[in-house]
Amino acid sequence: MKQTLQRPVGLEEGVSKPVVSPIMPSVVYGSDCPDQLDAQYEGRAHGYTYAREGHPNADLLARRIDALEGMQNGIVLGSGMAAVSAVLLGLCKAGDHVVGGSDLYGRSLRLMKEDLPRLGIETSLADATNADSIAAALRPETRLVLIEVVSNPTLRISDLEGIAEICKARGVLLAVDNTFTTPRALRPVDHGADIVIQSLTKLLAGHSDATLGWVAAKDPDLNDRMRVFAVTTGMTPSPFDCWLAERGLATFDLRFERTQQSAQRLADFLAEQPGVARVLYPTRQDHPEAARAQSLLQGRGCNMVSFVIDGGRAQANAFVKGANGLAFAPTLGDVGTTLSHPASSSHRALSEGDREVMGVTEGFFRVSVGLEEPDALLDAFAKGLEAARSA
Ligand SMILES: Cc1ncc(COP(=O)(O)O)c(C=O)c1O
Repeated sequence: MKQTLQRPVGLEEGVSKPVVSPIMPSVVYGSDCPDQLDAQYEGRAHGYTYAREGHPNADLLARRIDALEGMQNGIVLGSGMAAVSAVLLGLCKAGDHVVGGSDLYGRSLRLMKEDLPRLGIETSLADATNADSIAAALRPETRLVLIEVVSNPTLRISDLEGIAEICKARGVLLAVDNTFTTPRALRPVDHGADIVIQSLTKLLAGHSDATLGWVAAKDPDLNDRMRVFAVTTGMTPSPFDCWLAERGLATFDLRFERTQQSAQRLADFLAEQPGVARVLYPTRQDHPEAARAQSLLQGRGCNMVSFVIDGGRAQANAFVKGANGLAFAPTLGDVGTTLSHPASSSHRALSEGDREVMGVTEGFFRVSVGLEEPDALLDAFAKGLEAARSA
């Protein structure tokens, strides 16, 4: 690149190399001449041009997630919802029909219920724990099925393999949001998924300091279409966020194992406490899909636990206030444990009756277990429960 007074002179190239990826915030990249730019755009030479179209930090991160998920050429985007949107809006057209699991993440449900129909794409929701229910929702014009493996907040487990078989037989694309499970518990591509989605904001980046998503399709043409759609609609991630996520990813395996162990212990502890009406954890015998958790997740229950305390809002308030040191914050996958109360957050738009049908009552809590010392964690829950019982 030609140097001018306004451009950095660059450092002399040394014989040693950094062991950590550099952050590259440049929005534009200079090329030598129009012929070189042609070569770049035509794929004959590798080079970045404009950061919205791609930048090194996004690619460094994408290759890491690709390797974990067993996919190729995945795309890192500005949020998990950008990844869901790239699938639904980038691959479907007016006249298509999309089926979603009825327990999808709230914003994905909103896309299904409000935005796709506004654009002429019809949608239906069906119970993803039952492949027959998904099969019954398919139509000749169904283009795509979107499911999650473990549902939020009730932690039900989808019949991923049954649904994959049906989608394959009917020529329908299967997209799987693997955020709750992560590739450490399961790789959707190994179970018949055509498209895999991650909110990197959660466990993979793991520190609640970067909002990012990733998506990859097995079919390179579909992948290209999502990439072009994302570039056009500006779903670009920030280089700094990508860098933070790459750093977070370095400890993902360790964080997953530790938080899973603590989650299992917390679930068993809660099940024995007075004032706890129900505990949901995939590998517990009393989970509605316990057998599927063993076969599909190979006994990996992951880091999320849900439970129900006796009483109503007063007891819920008392529990949160009493559980000192646990953040009451609607996210998951952070290094610190977070508590979420779906009736007042993610599921507040539903009527009390609809929440009741899902089992999401005022006493329902979802826990994302973090890296705290396990005894201290149980102690905080014990204090919260004691406060709820006395409320
Ligand atoms: C399963 C699932 N998918 C997607 C998302 C959206 O991710 P983001 O918040 O990064 O947009 C979330 C967020 O909680 C989620 O739980």
